[in-house]
Amino acid sequence: MLEDWLGPKAAALEARGLTRRLRVRAADERLIDLAGNDYLGLASDPRVIEAAADAVCQWGTGSTASRLVTGTTALHDELESSLATYVGQETALVFSSGYLANLGVVTALGGPGTLVVSDDHVHASLIDGSRLSRSRVEVVPHNDVDAVGKVLAERNEPHALVLTESVFSVLSDEAPLIELAAVAREQDAVLLVDEAHGLGVTGGGRGSVHAAGLAGLEHVIVTMTLSKALAAQGGVVLGPALLRDHLINRSRPFIYDTGLNPAACAAALAALRVLQDEPDRPAAIHSAAARLALACGVPPSSGAVVSVPMPGPREAVRAAELCLENGVRVGSFRPPTVPDGISRLRLTAHAGLSDEDLDRACTVVLAAIGQVS
Ligand SMILES: Cc1ncc(COP(=O)(O)O)c(C=O)c1O
Repeated sequence: MLEDWLGPKAAALEARGLTRRLRVRAADERLIDLAGNDYLGLASDPRVIEAAADAVCQWGTGSTASRLVTGTTALHDELESSLATYVGQETALVFSSGYLANLGVVTALGGPGTLVVSDDHVHASLIDGSRLSRSRVEVVPHNDVDAVGKVLAERNEPHALVLTESVFSVLSDEAPLIELAAVAREQDAVLLVDEAHGLGVTGGGRGSVHAAGLAGLEHVIVTMTLSKALAAQGGVVLGPALLRDHLINRSRPFIYDTGLNPAACAAALAALRVLQDEPDRPAAIHSAAARLALACGVPPSSGAVVSVPMPGPREAVRAAELCLENGVRVGSFRPPTVPDGISRLRLTAHAGLSDEDLDRACTVVLAAIGQVS
């Protein structure tokens, strides 16, 4: 039965070069990594590893229940207050992933009386949250502030939520946050900024909302992941105390999910401390990204990801394979991940890449692109 059901779907994907496959990573693999999201190079930092190991010894291997039962430890509490202070927000609430943080906040603010206005390049988790919220959703062109203002002004709903990312996942360009916040305020709407790619990267590490002077405003709320620059796992929603209380009471992905593992909390906390003690780390991401962009002939990116357009999905996958054969791991974006349908190589700059690694990576990537194009 499943053969008739799923077989044709798998064949259709294969025919279009869009089949996804898992690749198992070995612990002792020696590759130059331009695919992972360990932006600050902290996933292998001894201070972060030790903090996670200590947390396992002290708290055990799991959080034991949902946050409202026994899943809130002293580590969750400390992580929330440290993160909120670092990025200039009144409060923070940790979820067990960035995906769930987005799902949790959009569904808790959404509903029939809320219009959701969504940039057409936002992450899948914001799209899924919008769908699940049962709100009316207006998708607007990428970074189009006038389009946002127009749909907000024409709405009948009493409430509105505008969704954007600070640094977008695919193009690695930045949202016009100051303008979006102004239009949201004018139209009595809330702006939600996903800083998954901003934390630890932009604004000296504190993210783009802080850099734009918008942190702590009542109508600008933020989500982040702990799985990229902070080298751990989990997600967080930051904003006024009233929002945090509402999420604790109404957000189903928060209420009905086991609390984040204490080891992940401890790792994120330790990574945050390193970031605070070593404020120059984010600058190393930007110089590595600039070198990669220059070598590939694409515009410099605002974040860690350098996106290189490819002729099609097969070429993107083949180029990534060629890079791997030559000791460099890169990622690829293919439909449906890319909202504009353009397949790309995804090169992620890390603070820990040496000059030698970067030179080698540029040579290998350029050769691979040349071979498939
Ligand atoms: C923009 C954006 N938001 C949310 C997420 C989800 O975060 P997590 O991996 O912690 O679930 C990601 C990560 O892939 C992302 O890129």
